[in-house]
Amino acid sequence: MMRRPQGFRYVFRVAHTMTSSIDKLYEEADRLYYDNKLDKAAVLYKKILEEDPEHQAALHSLGIIHYDEDDYGPAVEYMLKALAQDPEDIYVHSNLGKSLYGMVHMGQKKTAKRIARQWAEDYPDNRIALHMAAAVTGDEVPDRANDDYVAQTFDEFADTFDSKLEELSYKAPELLGEALTRHVNASDLRILDAGCGTGLCGPYLRPLARKLEGIDLSEEMLALAKKRKLYDRLDKAELTEALQTRSKRYDVAVAADVLCYFGDLSAIFGAMASSLRPGGLFAFTLETHGKAKDYDLGISGRYTHSAKYVHKSLAGAGFDLIEGEQGQLRTEYAVPVTGLVIVARKGD
Ligand SMILES: C[S@@+](CC[C@H](N)C(=O)[O-])C[C@H]1O[C@@H](n2cnc3c(N)ncnc32)[C@H](O)[C@@H]1O
Repeated sequence: MMRRPQGFRYVFRVAHTMTSSIDKLYEEADRLYYDNKLDKAAVLYKKILEEDPEHQAALHSLGIIHYDEDDYGPAVEYMLKALAQDPEDIYVHSNLGKSLYGMVHMGQKKTAKRIARQWAEDYPDNRIALHMAAAVTGDEVPDRANDDYVAQTFDEFADTFDSKLEELSYKAPELLGEALTRHVNASDLRILDAGCGTGLCGPYLRPLARKLEGIDLSEEMLALAKKRKLYDRLDKAELTEALQTRSKRYDVAVAADVLCYFGDLSAIFGAMASSLRPGGLFAFTLETHGKAKDYDLGISGRYTHSAKYVHKSLAGAGFDLIEGEQGQLRTEYAVPVTGLVIVARKGD
């Protein structure tokens, strides 16, 4: 059985000019695709292209099939052709980024970098392209992942997020929950789940909370968090901005696997500090690297940080470190990923 890539969603874009025979072929191809008969589906998508070489949905679909088969070079080619037909299609941009990531994994880093540079040059206004291209090339690394990239990535990922993270033995919510119970002995706190996603931290935070609030940029992730019925309030917002308007509101703020979407930590740590009451706790996880640089953007689009930089940034924002252990946060390609599990207290 061929796998369907993580967070991959296909949108139908049926061209108005489509003839009814192409229409029927497309419907049939798509049915085969969803039945996992990828080879047969590919034959039909190609047949459509013989009649209409600019058929955007068929180009995109063939790109997806090659991606599904870990055949990243052709996947990239088809995605680029699909983009030429519809430069605004954010799903194709997102899938092109994933295909370039695949190319790097297969050892084709140089080619992937060359294509990514051209992609950023051709679509300078597309913020998904800019973040993913920076991740592949290492050029012009932004201070943090932009809002469009984060929202698109997690809107696509939402449906499969919980099951995928279970497969990856994701432990950040549990580790943060345990760390907090070592420092908190109360059940009437006002708690923020910053970057709450689908609400995996909710079950660990609810018993400590009088009010449990969540903020996230992804509407689809928030919709799933809402279904848990654990949160008193959920807002779609960018964290740094939202926290600046919530002065001294929280006793505890938690960010599980969220700061990997921030490179420079000064603004987000400053905003966190301003939203906490004096003595309030900030608990978070981070993936670290042993490099000399403060932060680095990996090809996956996520940042890693040096432990020294994290400590310096916490102190700079007025936090005292009260716990900073290494923990096994998840696995990647079956290899354990360790990172920091930190609890810091806002100074009085
Ligand atoms: C890997 S998920 C983790 C979700 C949740 N904390 C958990 O442990 O399951 C990262 C979440 O952070 C959110 N996020 C990243 N950057 C953000 C920002 N600047 N503002 C708000 N949410 C952000 C994403 O939308 C995503 O839902």
